[in-house]
Amino acid sequence: MTHSLLITGASRGLGRAVALHFAALGSEIHLLGRDETALATVAEAVVTAGGRAHIHCASVTDRVALRVVSERISRLDGLVAAAGISGITPVDSELADVDADFDEILQTDLTGCWNTVRAFAPKLGAGGHIVLVSSVLGRFGVPGYGAYCAAKHGLLGLTKALALELIPKGIYVNAVAPGWVDTAMAQTGIRAMAEGFGISEDQARLKAEAVVPVQRFFQPEEIAHGIAWLLAPANTMQVGQCLNLDGGVVQV
Ligand SMILES: NC(=O)c1ccc[n+]([C@@H]2O[C@H](COP(=O)([O-])OP(=O)(O)OC[C@H]3O[C@@H](n4cnc5c(N)ncnc54)[C@H](OP(=O)(O)O)[C@@H]3O)[C@@H](O)[C@H]2O)c1
Repeated sequence: MTHSLLITGASRGLGRAVALHFAALGSEIHLLGRDETALATVAEAVVTAGGRAHIHCASVTDRVALRVVSERISRLDGLVAAAGISGITPVDSELADVDADFDEILQTDLTGCWNTVRAFAPKLGAGGHIVLVSSVLGRFGVPGYGAYCAAKHGLLGLTKALALELIPKGIYVNAVAPGWVDTAMAQTGIRAMAEGFGISEDQARLKAEAVVPVQRFFQPEEIAHGIAWLLAPANTMQVGQCLNLDGGVVQV
């Protein structure tokens, strides 16, 4: 299968796993992130796995930089917006930084996806697929995570609107809502949870796993399978949908 794909947040975690999934299928992968060294390491792994790789060092918050990247690309079959940051933003925080954190999370996780689609959707033709990475925190609220929940809920609204806007062009827009995935982001979340409850990180992880019906975290490769399913050319039924990849936490 010849497939040309751009992935944001490709330097590690979930984005990297999507890149390696498609590399094994011989795809051409455009890896976008801010850390050039980390992107180069992923690019090597993509080539070793059988794919072709291009690295693009840019922030999803930088519209001009994204447009410059887009001008270097002739066409795409798929676009995966996986770049994201998390963090706690308690509304009663005394810390002045909390407002800046709120803005940064919204700008990266929500506006960053808008910027990404604006820059790269024109490279997709009929039959192209876009997947935006939301979260279970786009499905329900968690105290202290106002910015992240707002961004990830917002992404689902964006997915629905863009899906209806782009389907006349034959472009399919959908989202995924992963639960806990074993990445650097989840480790930071577990550390915050341990501090919040005054327990060890091991205890926090057990507590987090206990509310997942399958009782475990997921590997990034498992989430990549779900994203790949949405991106498959044969998938012409999902339009503005959100695929829950959470082991049964959300059942709608
Ligand atoms: N891990 C989980 O449990 C979980 C659960 C549900 C949803 N998600 C979502 O899944 C996505 C991937 O998360 P992950 O777990 O793989 O986290 P991760 O390991 O922390 O990776 C985040 C990626 O996003 C990139 N990134 C962050 N800010 C960026 C920016 N301004 N411009 C470009 N790239 C940026 C990072 O690259 P650089 O820092 O190198 O630029 C990195 O490649 C995120 O959208 C996250 O919200 C994660």
